[in-house]
Amino acid sequence: MDLHVAPATRLRGTLQAPPDKSVSHRAALLGAMASEPVRITGYLEAQDTASTLAAVEALGAGVDRGAEEIVVRGVGLRGAREPGATIDVGNAGTLMRLLPGWLAAQEGKAFRIDGDSSIRRRPVDRIAEPLRAMGAEIDATDGRFPPFEVRGAQLRGISYEMPVASAQVKSCVLFAGLSAEDATTVTEPHPSRDHTERMLARLGASVHRHGRHVTVRQVDALAGGDLHVPGDPSSAAFWLAAAAIVPGAELRITGMGANWTRIGFVRVLQRMGADVRGDLEAVEDDVVRPEEPVADVEVRAAPLRGTVVEGEEVPLAIDELPLVGLLGCFAEGETVVRGAAELRVKESDRIAAVVDGLNALGGDLEALPDGFVVRGTGGLRGGVIDAAHDHRTAMLGAIAGLASREGVRVLGMEAADVSYPGFTADLERLQG
Ligand code: S3P
Repeated sequence: MDLHVAPATRLRGTLQAPPDKSVSHRAALLGAMASEPVRITGYLEAQDTASTLAAVEALGAGVDRGAEEIVVRGVGLRGAREPGATIDVGNAGTLMRLLPGWLAAQEGKAFRIDGDSSIRRRPVDRIAEPLRAMGAEIDATDGRFPPFEVRGAQLRGISYEMPVASAQVKSCVLFAGLSAEDATTVTEPHPSRDHTERMLARLGASVHRHGRHVTVRQVDALAGGDLHVPGDPSSAAFWLAAAAIVPGAELRITGMGANWTRIGFVRVLQRMGADVRGDLEAVEDDVVRPEEPVADVEVRAAPLRGTVVEGEEVPLAIDELPLVGLLGCFAEGETVVRGAAELRVKESDRIAAVVDGLNALGGDLEALPDGFVVRGTGGLRGGVIDAAHDHRTAMLGAIAGLASREGVRVLGMEAADVSYPGFTADLERLQG
């Protein structure tokens, strides 16, 4: 489906942030691993998170889908059933990288995992290496891609130093650590999103953070309980960006997750000069809080200036970096993103997608091996952008259209359904 987005003449109103994709994946997986029912409110209904529910059902968990909540009836830490067919993760990289952490602990059982054409380009060696060190066997295509097979074993705890900050790899190792002898410690080069740690604490696991190290200890069982999914800051970020660059815009986003490990983009936006207000969580390194903070955030358009995003800020804004590219087009001076080579192995090569996509709309961007440079030209002309099956590129194109002079046609807008099926409806509503 193609969508033509005309320049916005008005962008005002209030919007409830759609449910968080990262937290939803984890809630369903932890529910499947628990020994008592886990009740989840606010679960995201989207393609990626539907893949996770289908996967846990294939592994023997029960999923009761109600109007207000879903209840996952888990099979326990070591009780996953061999599905007898390949587990299809669809487009969901988080599912593909987290699930093997649990499956690695299923002694004597084997599981095959595959997904769509984008998934088949995404490396799994980053999880295979630590899981092998813990005792599991992993066979991947060409040594590092899906489809791949996980053969479970009695695991041993390890101390693992991650080469790049990745919440997916960290979560995978922590999941395996729940069933491994002794303790398992993961060390990150920089902090990444900590939803897994928070939810493990909430479900009664022993999990501790000390600086860049996170340690989990073996448990016999995970308790059940209630998990609530907050609004997704990565989905809300499209509206925060729109309000910052559409002249006269004023938006209020309610119920947005305000976990400090997810709101790096808000801090970048503020530094660029946007008027963003909200009760956001302060940076906190050494505590694992069992709760996810939530905030209402208000944004108003303001003149922007260029900035540099690098180092520890990168994992805290990883999925929003394409939007930094868009903001850079509207800012005065140069905007640089570097140290973000991870963008090349997301749902698409997002460095190429941002640079080629925004240049086709009249931007002035240059790709770096690990990021991009944007020369602000005060705006964007408009034109055509191909989502190329990447949900975030589709939504990036639509927001660019709102702020452009001539409008933008997004080819393949349906890609947004992966994380934000209500995006087009919200787009229409906010333009009144
Ligand atoms: C995610 C972590 C990030 C992010 C992805 C979701 C998660 O990946 O890009 O969209 O839910 O853990 P990495 O931390 O592996 O870079």
